Amino acid sequence: MQSIPGYTYGSPALGPSPLNHQDLELLKASLLFTDDDHAALRQAGEVLADQVEEILDVWYGFVAAHPHLVYYFGGPDGNPSPEYLAAVRKRFGQWILDTCQRPYDAQWLAYQHEIGLRHHRSKKNQTDGFGAAPQVPMRYIVAFIYPITVTLRPFLAKKGHPQEQVERMHQAWFKAVVLQALLWCYPYVKEGDF
Ligand code: HEM
Repeated sequence: MQSIPGYTYGSPALGPSPLNHQDLELLKASLLFTDDDHAALRQAGEVLADQVEEILDVWYGFVAAHPHLVYYFGGPDGNPSPEYLAAVRKRFGQWILDTCQRPYDAQWLAYQHEIGLRHHRSKKNQTDGFGAAPQVPMRYIVAFIYPITVTLRPFLAKKGHPQEQVERMHQAWFKAVVLQALLWCYPYVKEGDF
């Protein structure tokens, strides 16, 4: 994993998440996220592991088709930067696996906080050393929950699992994306309001 530039999961240099274990448990309870979802995500990880590049093709295609979204991948001149897109893509692929395979513990929470900061003006453009738009607006992060979820279903179904199991994996994925997207909103919210 060290081979992915800018991927600092587990690094001691990361600040801790402002949320603790109890906060996470209460959020999971609010999302109806249970141990069954962790199990379904582990299974999803097995199903998706060899499909990561195809999934990223779909998501990048979606972003590329919308100028108002690809804008946030603009390089110093404001035009979509192939280098920036490619650098983020590697970590995005790893994120698919992390979402399915990592324990949701303090390290995971710390990296969620980091990803939030990387979308926000406090850290966007720093990891890869380029980027023009100062931050991704929070509203688009929340909006993305839907495409990132709905487009995954065909990939979950591709290995011939019964419909009911595909549905369980898909629901678990949906909850995991909501959980992470909301954690990434932290830096956008006024102190004390999160
Ligand atoms: C970075 C996922 C919403 C633009 C990333 C990374 C991931 C990710 C996994 C890499 C994190 C890392 O550095 O390890 C997601 C998910 C979203 C979402 C799951 C919503 C559910 C958006 C939206 C945009 C966007 C709406 C704008 C079009 C970017 C950019 C970066 C990035 C520009 C690089 C930030 C930097 O300079 O470090 N995203 N993202 N993301 N995302 Fe998102």
